[in-house]
Amino acid sequence: MMPQQLVAVGRADALAAAAARHHLTLRHSSNVYQTMLLFSLAPPPGASEDERRWYAMQATCPHLEAPLEHATLETVESELEAEAQRDITDVEDTVVVCPHHEWSWSLRTGESDHSPAGMRACTFAVSVQDGMLSVEAPQLEQNAPGSWLLVESRPVSERFYEPKPAADAGPSSSQVQLVAPDPVPQSLTAWASLVLNTANPRLKVHYTRLAAAAWRDARCTRVGGGRWNFDDSEAPEWRRKPEETPPGIPPRDQLNVVRPGHEAKRGKGGTERGRIALLHSLASIEQIAIDLAWDIICRGPELFARLHPASNPPPKLPNAFYTDFLRMAEDEAKHHTILCERLEAFGVAFGDLPVHYGLFDSMRDTWHSLTARLSIVHLVHEARGLDVNPGTIARFAKAGDEDSVATLQIIHHDEVTHVATGHRWLCHVAECMTPPRAPVELFREEVRAHFCGALREPFNRPERAQAGLTAEWYEDLRGEKRPGDGYSAGGVQAARQAQIAGG
Ligand code: FES
Repeated sequence: MMPQQLVAVGRADALAAAAARHHLTLRHSSNVYQTMLLFSLAPPPGASEDERRWYAMQATCPHLEAPLEHATLETVESELEAEAQRDITDVEDTVVVCPHHEWSWSLRTGESDHSPAGMRACTFAVSVQDGMLSVEAPQLEQNAPGSWLLVESRPVSERFYEPKPAADAGPSSSQVQLVAPDPVPQSLTAWASLVLNTANPRLKVHYTRLAAAAWRDARCTRVGGGRWNFDDSEAPEWRRKPEETPPGIPPRDQLNVVRPGHEAKRGKGGTERGRIALLHSLASIEQIAIDLAWDIICRGPELFARLHPASNPPPKLPNAFYTDFLRMAEDEAKHHTILCERLEAFGVAFGDLPVHYGLFDSMRDTWHSLTARLSIVHLVHEARGLDVNPGTIARFAKAGDEDSVATLQIIHHDEVTHVATGHRWLCHVAECMTPPRAPVELFREEVRAHFCGALREPFNRPERAQAGLTAEWYEDLRGEKRPGDGYSAGGVQAARQAQIAGG
């Protein structure tokens, strides 16, 4: 048997100082993903740091895939060990208590007193050598050749960024009551519909935070999103409840929408005016990105079912899909918030400058297909962010705007994860197709059909590769969609109509 690979995560002291839990994402070169939680249990009072205990466990509950990031930990006496080693009578164990049905999982063994025989959580050995912490990589069936890579290590205690009270300086910060919706949505797709239909950006961010907390704390456990209706016809129809239905183009509060390229001049970031224009443009893009993350959640059940129209009940995406895109929506809401704060530091409110809705074109062009959406929005546009962000950050740094640099670095760090999320789920969906498709080939096909023009160099190859996009995905790739074929003008028009509808 081959020895299991150790994956270096970072300095143990730095990890311990950063948070008691980290969410880790690992990817094997065969495109298999493994998410896990790294737990750091502080040494007892008076004990040395050497007695700190580290554990790693799969990040979702083995029962019904609930996210365990914010699960509570409890110390219990381990009967299993007490039985197995009769001379040991009071062995303590720490268990993770799943918020959904309160089954508990041992951090040491992955076993549970609640689960039916055989169900256990995957645990992974953690070792610290010369101060460097590593986790044991999962064993793949048939010892698949290749190796594991750490895609992301994120402190779980990094709760949502707490926004400062907004100045009442512009249309987006107009007095809006940040209260819970009434009625409270009863499914994740109902939350998605609510957020997508919310025009005010601050309220959109607020609802996103409430929804993410409700999903994590198991106050919302149902995805919803509809089902096939086979009544009276040979061709089944997808039926969804009105409250789980996404809008067309999401409405906006009083933004001045212009065609792409006609917004305020950004320059090269050298002047304050140019930097403000760029920050404003990014804040708008992040607002659209919140909607894009929610839109794929809202449409996911239907689009995945359409890959297998003859199956009733329809096949479902794993809950981990929804957890990943909800985390993305939360990130984008954080990005929008911190960019608005930078604007306010310059005395500008979000909405003071014109914005373009080019990204809504991609939303509309990919409403019909999960693989098209994942390819264009999450693997072309998000990956483009990886390419251009370092240059933007460098220009802000050259201008001495360190606060904006810090903001842009937070955003850039998260975007590597977002591209990895797109890669993970396109690979998953490709494998679920009949017959299964090769993800690279499928991606290139979708780009040719739904993107206009060539993918532009220079590419940020190292970070693209970290997110799963090796050169074979994007080299020499050109979208064959014709300019003006609804790609730019249509989206603006649709957005304007949505604006009118949204007031
Ligand atoms: S989903 Fe965790 S116990 Fe049911």
